[in-house]
Amino acid sequence: RQTPAFDMVLFGGTGDLVMRKLLPSLYQAHAAGLLAPSGRILALGRRDMGREAYLAYVADHARQNIKTNFDEAHWASFQERIDYLKVDASAPDDYRALADALPREEGRVTVCYLATAPDLFAGICESLAAVGLNREGVRVVLEKPLGTDLDSSNAINDDVARFFREDQLYRIDHYLGKESVQNLMAIRFANALFEPLWRREWIHDVQITIAEDLGVEGRGDFYDGTGALRDMVQNHLLQLLCIVAMEPPSNMESDSVRDEKLKVLKALRPFTEQDVASRSVRGQYKSGAVAGRPVVGYVEEPGIPPGSGTETFVALKAEIDNWRWAGVPFFLRTGKRMQERLAEIVINFRDVPLKLFPSPVGCHTANRLVIRLQPEESIRLYFLAKEPGDTMRLQPAYLNLDFHEMFKLRRADAYERLLLDVIRGKLALFMRRDELVEAWRWVEPIMESWQHSSIPPKLYTAGTWGPAASSALLSRDGVAWHEES
Ligand code: BG6
Repeated sequence: RQTPAFDMVLFGGTGDLVMRKLLPSLYQAHAAGLLAPSGRILALGRRDMGREAYLAYVADHARQNIKTNFDEAHWASFQERIDYLKVDASAPDDYRALADALPREEGRVTVCYLATAPDLFAGICESLAAVGLNREGVRVVLEKPLGTDLDSSNAINDDVARFFREDQLYRIDHYLGKESVQNLMAIRFANALFEPLWRREWIHDVQITIAEDLGVEGRGDFYDGTGALRDMVQNHLLQLLCIVAMEPPSNMESDSVRDEKLKVLKALRPFTEQDVASRSVRGQYKSGAVAGRPVVGYVEEPGIPPGSGTETFVALKAEIDNWRWAGVPFFLRTGKRMQERLAEIVINFRDVPLKLFPSPVGCHTANRLVIRLQPEESIRLYFLAKEPGDTMRLQPAYLNLDFHEMFKLRRADAYERLLLDVIRGKLALFMRRDELVEAWRWVEPIMESWQHSSIPPKLYTAGTWGPAASSALLSRDGVAWHEES
């Protein structure tokens, strides 16, 4: 199960992503014995520092982010893999030294992870190609945001495509690296139990929530020009929707899976101006309290201009125009500073045709499958059962599968899984260019309509589940968000 030999080149080597996610994930893979012994990590940065200074920086930053399984001996051997090279990503002349630093061996993989601002991607790819680093065996990982709309995303992808083939490009969406997202595919396609029910005849609606209790966390400058629709819906939420809604692929080859996801994106009903008014909710948090701690409102956060109309909350009713899903609403919701950190997919099955028992008052939880991605990873199947006693009173009950409990295995961060997949050359969990195009095409009318709207986002108190309009969006279809049931 070890990876092939590799060089992992980290552009933006002193940056936040490398410290918070990439090095800690590579450390975990190393400690678990998954990395080839000759695998090396080469961090690049503009700062003039030697290997020792970089390792000290890593010890101060990345090491702090390793919350589980830390072991001094593993850390010491992990550091042996790391080197630092002063390379200014925007200076083509610096790339010769990079090419010289990378050994050429049969079967050795080079991964260039572009953890930089996307406006550098084109220049980096051009400079890599100029020194031959687009040869066979070189893979490029592109971090989001890949553009801010369809045009800018196309421009980046066009530039990159001048130097790299599509099968060398790994566009990351870290939600696809989450264990329960892949488990959803396993549940759907490895068990005959659910698939016959997985369609409009048996499913009433689907709800997908990614709620965060955090605010913009010092990223105000970036976030204000982005907003929740671009930051979360265009990528993570739509990718989850695809995994729920896609047809079974004929095999698990990368392109077979991605072809099916693409068909879902293409079948999403476009939002008209009228739909934006009736099928979307745009919110922004005002001051409140999260977990008993007072927090400021979005416009009081550092870096946010007064009166900003950027959304920190989105709820949408999406519809998929195909035979499997016609008429089934897919409710999508994401927000910052919500009541708790929670990511889940809720499949609501239809009601029985004839009610033989009185329903518990206000209960919406009968026949429901809940796939939790966060904070814990679990699958819960709710149904109505008889309350013990001498009446036929029903109560919701559930079967719960907690993956951690069940398998008692180490939990890997999404980035770890995805980094291993890049080294192994597996593209299935990365976005193909055409998926990105369709996703932008779908969110663009919503984005534009909000941009030109004189109606400000609806304010919600930090620490709640978002504006009241979000519940109203569902109640029109006779349902409520899962936790409100
Ligand atoms: C990122 C967004 O893509 O995903 C962040 O840019 C967000 O704003 C993060 O906080 C959420 O990821 P996770 O894995 O912590 O749910």
